[in-house]
Amino acid sequence: MTGPSATFGFRDVDAAEKAGMVRGVFDRVARRYDLMNDLMSAGVHRLWKDAVAARLNPQPGETILDVAGGTGDMARRFARMARRAQERRGGADARVFVIDYNGEMIEAGRQRGGMPEICWAVGDAQALPLPDASADAYVISFGIRNVTDIVGALKEARRVLRPGGRFLCLEFSRPVTEALRAAYDAYSFKVIPEIGARVAQDRESYQYLVESIRRFPDQRRFAGMMGEAGFSQVAWTNYSGGVAALHTGRAI
Ligand SMILES: C[S@@+](CC[C@H](N)C(=O)[O-])C[C@H]1O[C@@H](n2cnc3c(N)ncnc32)[C@H](O)[C@@H]1O
Repeated sequence: MTGPSATFGFRDVDAAEKAGMVRGVFDRVARRYDLMNDLMSAGVHRLWKDAVAARLNPQPGETILDVAGGTGDMARRFARMARRAQERRGGADARVFVIDYNGEMIEAGRQRGGMPEICWAVGDAQALPLPDASADAYVISFGIRNVTDIVGALKEARRVLRPGGRFLCLEFSRPVTEALRAAYDAYSFKVIPEIGARVAQDRESYQYLVESIRRFPDQRRFAGMMGEAGFSQVAWTNYSGGVAALHTGRAI
């Protein structure tokens, strides 16, 4: 390796190569992405995402970013909730941007069907195609662990948020008990790559996903990175005993 390194699953790779490698993974899984999420989590990812949308509480007229938004699973929830709030109380349409650097994921999302409030864009979480202080809320769900420069992406989130704007990050995290950690490890290393092999004919990509979860910082360390990037009111909520966690903060 010549330049700075980055993690790619359990491997250390050239930082300059990581983005292309991650893009390759999501190119390969895009078509089966939504089905695989349901199979791997027995549908539980939907409950976590519903809980995040409820915490976000999208409002009419807001500009909401679903960064690394993939097929727009979160964005659809936000658009629906903002529309319901608008039907009750009036106000302008919300705008929800799905930004993902993988055109295949965006295309799979478009084919699943859009909503008029949703705009789809190919873009990088580390260099968002948006002006400073232009968004009311920024959400990244199961995306940040794939990004090469995590603190860089967090600073970029802060840049595009208005002062006081809400930041929410849903990510796999560290189960809080030893017993749960052991059960979760056994499940994720044995079962998930096997489901990937059978359903998506792609064991390797799902092996990467599992390894990338293990390499991702735990709840406290990630909260520290948010502080380093300049967020205030940093806090987290564990879901399913810490298998996933929602980190929240405010742009200053
Ligand atoms: C596991 S998927 C999550 C998709 C969606 N947010 C969800 O919760 O279902 C991760 C997504 O992150 C995207 N991604 C990875 N690195 C990125 C980056 N630097 N900028 C934008 N998107 C990125 C991938 O293309 C992929 O669509």
